[in-house]
Parts: sequence; C-alpha cells; structure tokens
Amino acid sequence: MIELKNINKNIIKNKQIERVLFENLNFSLSDATPSIAIMGRSGSGKTTLLNIIAGLDINYEGEYFFNHNLVYKTTDKMADLRLKNISIITQHYNLLDDRNVMENILLGFRKKSAQSKSQAMDYLKMVGLEGYAHKKIKHLSGGECQRVAIARAMAKAPTLLIADEPTGALDEETERIVLNIFQELKRKGTKIIIATHSKEVAKSCEQVVVIKDKRLKAVKL
Ligand SMILES: Nc1ncnc2c1ncn2[C@@H]1O[C@H](COP(=O)(O)OP(=O)(O)OP(=O)(O)O)[C@@H](O)[C@H]1O
Ligand SMILES: [Mg+2]
Repeated sequence: MIELKNINKNIIKNKQIERVLFENLNFSLSDATPSIAIMGRSGSGKTTLLNIIAGLDINYEGEYFFNHNLVYKTTDKMADLRLKNISIITQHYNLLDDRNVMENILLGFRKKSAQSKSQAMDYLKMVGLEGYAHKKIKHLSGGECQRVAIARAMAKAPTLLIADEPTGALDEETERIVLNIFQELKRKGTKIIIATHSKEVAKSCEQVVVIKDKRLKAVKL
C-alpha cells in the first residue's frame, strides 16, 4: 500500500545541514495491515515522516510508492494524491478559526451532496459534539478542536488517514471514543497511520514502529 525506500532527510539551516534526521529509513504499510503506529521521542521526526507520507514535504531523498506506484515528488502530483486518497489530522488541527464547526466539517467532503449536512451531524455526534455545529472554532477548547478535525477527516472517507497525535489533547474517555471511531473506519477499509506517544493508542494498531537512530525499528508492546 505504502512504501518508503532509503529515505534521507536533512534539516537545513542557513544552507547548511543542521541535522541528519533520517538516514536510509524504510517504511512499509502492507495491503494486509489496517493500521500502524509511529512512536519515538519528541523531535525524533514523527511529524516530518507523516508530512512526507502526506506529500506535504518533498525535500528528501529516496523513493515513495503509493499503491505500488512510484510517486513523483512534485507539489502538484502530491496535492492530487492527497486530494484523492488522504485525510490528515495534524498536531495543530488546521481548522478555519473564523468559521463554525459545521462549515469546517463540510470542507472535508470530496463531493458535497444533499446528505452531507446530516452526515456531518452524525460524525459530530460520534465525536461527542452534538449541538456544536454552529459554534466558531475559536471558541472551542483544544480537545474539542481535535474532535472536529477527526469529524472532518471522517467526512472524506479516505483510503488513508494520517493522524498526528490525534488524542494528545483528550482525556482517557474521549481517547477511547476516538479509538473506537478509528476501529470503525478500519472496518470500512480506511488505513490509518498514527504518530503517538500513547501506548494505549499504539496498542490499538496492528503494527508499531519507533524512530530510533534516524531509522524505523519494529517494536512489540
Ligand atoms: N521546517 C523545519 N525547519 C527546521 N527544522 C525542522 C523543521 N521541521 C522539523 N524540524 C526539526 O526536525 C526535528 C523533528 O521534528 P518533528 O516535528 O518531526 O518531531 P516529532 O517526532 O514529531 O516531535 P513531537 O513528538 O514533539 O511532535 C526537530 O528537531 C525539529 O526541530
Ligand atoms: Mg510531532
């Protein structure tokens, strides 16, 4: 499904290599694996790796295969891949602050239909935010924003969901609700890649890897 081969990534500052972040890193999410967790210390490169998979970062060496096809590293090709296949829940949620909750979720749908609004309402209910449709994002708490971002990602019904610490701002019970939603998405055929510090979240994935010494290593929890 997704394969990264021999990825080298440097952090450049003032045209100089400040740090080698990845060296010959390999990542593989097979067709048979519904979800994978990426762990590793803060600053180890989890978000950077997700950005590479999402096509948001193309400044690296190495090959990227999506559904067994080599992905060309141009912004246009990457944007197209993302539009067609991928939903992203970022660490900072990327919601439109001045719009309300419903408007943000509707942005997630690839094609809006007469049913989009009622579907969006269902997703809001699933993330425990019934009655929040008309609230402005700027008036929500961090955890509420996180759940709106999850509802928006669901609206797309993506082939691949990339989630960067999706439960970082949530209490245990809400974390469980979100993990249940992820299970539901997996049943519907969405593949999920999650960066997380939480063992509970990682345990909900079929495969767990950790970024260590500039590479990925498999771990058993
Ligand atoms: N655009 C950038 N310019 C300069 N340095 C960057 C940039 N993006 C990331 N870095 C650096 O790369 C390293 C990896 O960052 P990244 O955000 O991928 O870590 P992370 O594993 O997601 O950390 P956390 O667990 O804190 O979210 C960090 O040291 C960060 O400062
Ligand atoms: Mg991060």
